[in-house]
Amino acid sequence: MCGIVGAILSEGSVVQGLVDGLRVLEYRGYDSSGVAVAADDGVLVRKKEGRLANLEAALADGALEGARAGIGHTRWATHGPPSDRNAHPHLGRHGTLAVVHNGIIENYLALKEELTGSGVVFQSETDTEVLAHLIERELATADDLSSAVRRCLARVEGYYALAVLSRGPAGPEVVCARQGPPLAVASTADAAYLASDLLGLLPYTNRISFLEDGDIAVLTPGRVQVIDLQGRLVERLPKTIHWESGDSGLGHWPHHMLKEIHEQGDVLARTAFSRIAKGADDVEFEGGAFSDEFFAEIERVQVTACGTALHAGMIASYLIEGLARIPVDVDFASEFRYRDPLVGPGTLALAISQSGETADTLAATRLARSKGAKVAAICNVEGSSQVRESDGVILTQAGPEIGVASTKAFTAQVAAALLLAVRMGRARGTLDSERARELLQELRLLRPKIDSLLTEEAVGRVRRLARLHVEQNGFLFLGRGVNFPIALEGALKLKEISYMHAEGYAAGEMKHGPIALIDPGMTIVVINSVGHVADKVRANIEQVKARGGVTVSVGSDAASHEVAEDSIPVPETSEWLSPLLNVIPLQLLSYYVADLRGCDIDKPRNLAKSVTVE
Ligand code: F6R
Repeated sequence: MCGIVGAILSEGSVVQGLVDGLRVLEYRGYDSSGVAVAADDGVLVRKKEGRLANLEAALADGALEGARAGIGHTRWATHGPPSDRNAHPHLGRHGTLAVVHNGIIENYLALKEELTGSGVVFQSETDTEVLAHLIERELATADDLSSAVRRCLARVEGYYALAVLSRGPAGPEVVCARQGPPLAVASTADAAYLASDLLGLLPYTNRISFLEDGDIAVLTPGRVQVIDLQGRLVERLPKTIHWESGDSGLGHWPHHMLKEIHEQGDVLARTAFSRIAKGADDVEFEGGAFSDEFFAEIERVQVTACGTALHAGMIASYLIEGLARIPVDVDFASEFRYRDPLVGPGTLALAISQSGETADTLAATRLARSKGAKVAAICNVEGSSQVRESDGVILTQAGPEIGVASTKAFTAQVAAALLLAVRMGRARGTLDSERARELLQELRLLRPKIDSLLTEEAVGRVRRLARLHVEQNGFLFLGRGVNFPIALEGALKLKEISYMHAEGYAAGEMKHGPIALIDPGMTIVVINSVGHVADKVRANIEQVKARGGVTVSVGSDAASHEVAEDSIPVPETSEWLSPLLNVIPLQLLSYYVADLRGCDIDKPRNLAKSVTVE
């Protein structure tokens, strides 16, 4: 949610770099955007409702060129609807200080009342504007901007990643602070930069420091100094990040989502293959992580995650229970954190998150740790909070995921979950060498099978189906066993990018309610692969047909394709691995339905990637 950038250069002009940074971070929020730069006699701001292109048009007069310090923001509204007025940056009264912010200031009403009482006239409906006025007020008597920010933050309740730009008599100053949402900083020989995620910094350097809660960073050209809320120096050593800045480009693809769907064969290979141990009957994680000893005291696993990552977590529960024979519970992180869960030292709390910054998932992890659990994470972003706070981490190798709808990160999460399940099964002695070898061999064979689902012919088949069903009133996705979460994921993908009504159900539950929805206006997508529940799921297709429902079968069960009206055949693999194949046609179906409906696929309405607020 909300992208933040900032920079201070020893020479040159900062504004184009800010806009380029916002473009990379636009997936974090896209209802408005703005920049502020330090000019000779104050701070100049341009901000516009709508997409970044509107801001670029407003900057075309070149009036902000030449400034060497600035901050920028791309917004996902919390307080006050999207508008030019509510867009960030927000200025103090004297036009010499500007603030951008991601998060929520919970006591902003009380602060606003106080400031209004002292004569401040607010220009926006945001909670952020109180920060600009408070910092400005403190700056009048503080030694420098960081002291003023510290004093302001002592009065603030809530959470924030914020950046402040001031143009005082001594020249431009840039300070940023973190409590909750992520913020990273970096310096080069003649500049310093800040951004709400590392994609905003990678064009300059891959040596990046991640701020911790309570950190305030002071940026000067060539240097970033970090202090705590008491003003004491703290060390935040830079980490080397292994992504290339070019990885987030669109190339020849019309949308990031389609590009990312097509990357899934590579993602699987990068995430899984190098971790298959030499004897090919076990898994070996970097640095000997997840050793036999790691699992020694574990009696149960608690998975927490949100959205698509939760669906990967549900698949993880089937895999871990099935292969390592250890009980697994799965919960929405947002539920888990408020239900006083029964978690203790025998629990392995497993968080799954693409961004590693999802507020609820982080809170669930922290709660589990506070109750004595060991914490592990499956995460895509090196250096993220989730990674830093876990005892054991499996980094998925999906690369930057820019499309708001998660696709390749999901595949990588499921592959990582399988690796973890195999390792646990081997460590606990529930999975023998032969079975492990077979499974890992099947995993290797998935690569060409994924590619076969992404040929022009296979994609064309899905596109034709999308055309046939795009006028329907809604979709019901059914799946069973390890493919039940794929039904949920198919429905989530479709609703989030095409805005069509879609529901996912456990196939066996159909008769307990959803069957009432069946009519010719509803497409029932049934996911069914060869395996121990295939007959049952096929019977569901028959039941839907008997009631006049329109069915599409997806999976490797050829007999289901005979029964259903339409079908998307998927190559056969081990039942455990079938979700990794079955999800791909569903991602494509959502994509093409959304495309036919003219939706903004990479930036669906109301959504933002990386939900760093509750
Ligand atoms: C759906 C989607 C979201 C995320 C969820 C968790 O396509 O992208 O449902 O999966 O917000 O995000 P992470 O994985 O970053 O914790």
